[in-house]
Amino acid sequence: MSALILHRVDELRAHAEAARRAGRRVGVVLTMGALHEGHLSLVEHAARIADEIILTVFVNPTQFGPNEDLAKYPRTLERDIELATKAGATCVFAPDAKEMYPGADATRVVVSKVSEPLCGRFRPGHFAGVATVVTKFFAILGPSVALFGRKDYQQLQVIRTLVSDLLLPIEVIGLPTVRDADGLARSSRNVYLSSEERQRALAIPRALSRAFEVFTGGERDRAKILELVSEELRKGNLDVQYAELLDADDLSSFPTETLPDRALLAIAAYCGSTRLIDNIVLGEDPSPIGLP
Ligand code: PAJ
Repeated sequence: MSALILHRVDELRAHAEAARRAGRRVGVVLTMGALHEGHLSLVEHAARIADEIILTVFVNPTQFGPNEDLAKYPRTLERDIELATKAGATCVFAPDAKEMYPGADATRVVVSKVSEPLCGRFRPGHFAGVATVVTKFFAILGPSVALFGRKDYQQLQVIRTLVSDLLLPIEVIGLPTVRDADGLARSSRNVYLSSEERQRALAIPRALSRAFEVFTGGERDRAKILELVSEELRKGNLDVQYAELLDADDLSSFPTETLPDRALLAIAAYCGSTRLIDNIVLGEDPSPIGLP
């Protein structure tokens, strides 16, 4: 049986409210569709800890910049519904842009500090768009639990901050990055890569993996680790936006050149015209490339 498919906010609100009234625990997975195993791992986890599993599919216009890929973002709703149902979703919400932004759209949820470094520097307004749409979904749904991927680590920290600052009674769960066997993080944007670019993109998980190796071996010198990371990234001939080591909780810069025993290494790079992001929390996450 297919998940219940809804397109209207009032219907979704009523459905979530009925579920809560019936004592069903509501879990939510927010996505922009073009589902892959990364998204499905969130749905599967949700299905283990909640009763009503709501998946949203909405390519949110307010988080795209004027020169970004909003128009060409992959849209595969029929397939998404099938995959989401198999993974355990009980309801799929797929609104159009007017349904989510019917009014003046004068309001933005701005999460300062954690939104500012990394992608915040290169995508002005992006996290305000994300935080705004996520807050809207939370307000419509009143979920007990919301699941996000650590692939978008900064986004996860932005959402954790907004939930805590706004005193929302929602448990936020961050789940590990799902990767292909060669280490490349699954992303809806990977479909843009030619096979030659797909090979070059592997420089990103290789760079994370190199950092993992030396960090595990005891290296704590920030500049040395970043030099090794750059060396690996150069092999992929990528156009690197950033490769940075930051505090894994508040994304602040470290005050000294010697790293603590836990640090976020985050990378963004263009491979051709496709922007890819990836990260590892050194001292916490496994290597992105498993040992042979
Ligand atoms: P989207 O890129 O579709 O991602 C939806 C969710 O899937 C996010 O929580 C993201 O971190 C997670 N995800 C993506 N790739 C993953 C992977 N390889 N492994 C594990 N999880 C992965 O992120 C967004 O959409 C949007 O910004 C959204 C939160 C829906 C707001 O519009």
